Amino acid sequence: MNVLVVYESTRGRTKAMAEAICEGVKSEGVECEVVEAKKFSGLNNACALAVGSSTRMKRTLPQIRQVLAEMEKLNGLPAGAFGSYGWSGEAPDIISNELSGLGATLVDGQPVKAKDHPNPAALESCRELGRALASKCS
Ligand SMILES: Cc1cc2nc3c(=O)[nH]c(=O)nc-3n(C[C@H](O)[C@H](O)[C@H](O)COP(=O)(O)O)c2cc1C
Repeated sequence: MNVLVVYESTRGRTKAMAEAICEGVKSEGVECEVVEAKKFSGLNNACALAVGSSTRMKRTLPQIRQVLAEMEKLNGLPAGAFGSYGWSGEAPDIISNELSGLGATLVDGQPVKAKDHPNPAALESCRELGRALASKCS
């Protein structure tokens, strides 16, 4: 059992969120893999999925856009979105909608958004998302 966390980040902020999500997953005794969008090579039997991007010009970053465009149908896979933003923060909502359109089951507490660098409360929300995803894997 493995939770997959795929992200794209320009300055490391969404990356920090991805790592905190995996901390939450692992705290529940479930394995977790953080993968940069440009290295994404499929779900590989993941039991749950988180996808994150910061917001650029009201959109997701391009490699996450590509990951989502090429994503297989998710058939009820538990999933959630996340991302850092500066002022409007559309990307996590866009990702949630796309995951839902692919057939994912969105877990409670998502999408998680963090303004600029995630503060301790935002990182805790990320860990909570990780725990929620892990709970769907048993
Ligand atoms: C060219 C550019 C465009 C941006 N556009 C938006 C935007 O439309 N809405 C928003 O909320 N933040 C916007 N931001 C802010 C980033 O989302 C923010 O800096 C975020 O913390 C970066 O996170 P990252 O390090 O994970 O990429 C923009 C930043 C840059 C450099």
